[in-house]
Amino acid sequence: MDKLILSNEEELVDFAKKLAKKTKPAKENARVFALSGELGSGKTTFSKGFLKQLKVKEQVISPTFLIIKSYPLKGSKFKQAYHIDTYRLENPAEILNLGLEEILDNKANLVLIEWAEKVEKYLPKDSTWIKFSHYDKGRLLEIENE
Ligand SMILES: Nc1ncnc2c1ncn2[C@@H]1O[C@H](COP(=O)(O)OP(=O)(O)OP(=O)(O)O)[C@@H](O)[C@H]1O
Ligand SMILES: [Mg+2]
Repeated sequence: MDKLILSNEEELVDFAKKLAKKTKPAKENARVFALSGELGSGKTTFSKGFLKQLKVKEQVISPTFLIIKSYPLKGSKFKQAYHIDTYRLENPAEILNLGLEEILDNKANLVLIEWAEKVEKYLPKDSTWIKFSHYDKGRLLEIENE
């Protein structure tokens, strides 16, 4: 497991961009970054930086009210990016009605998912897990299976 301290928002955004740059499609399913950790710990900040590096044209909004927001990509290793936030799901299985399985089944997809622990059982085994926490004035990231 890798541990990383990002002292401010800019450092976290830079880290997310670097990670996006070197991320390649998975072999059998979507490439998934499963983001966990307390409120305000940086999951959305990370996601916005990551998506910016993938040249998402539209402004990246927080998916909180939509649960799943998709962004078509051009000139990227991936065809489509999905930014998912399960925070408002009352029942984890609801995510299946929103098409999660189809999204995960496609190797051309890149998926960033906030509050991933809620739907852990539906996520691919090769997902990269990043646990975010507050650390002094910055954030601590614990990364598994990068
Ligand atoms: N590395 C950092 N150091 C200090 N502050 C940060 C850092 N990264 C993000 N922040 C700040 O933390 C705040 C909350 O971040 P963010 O919305 O990304 O958290 P979140 O984990 O998505 O929260 P939620 O669980 O509500 O979705 C923002 O105001 C952001 O500027
Ligand atoms: Mg968030």
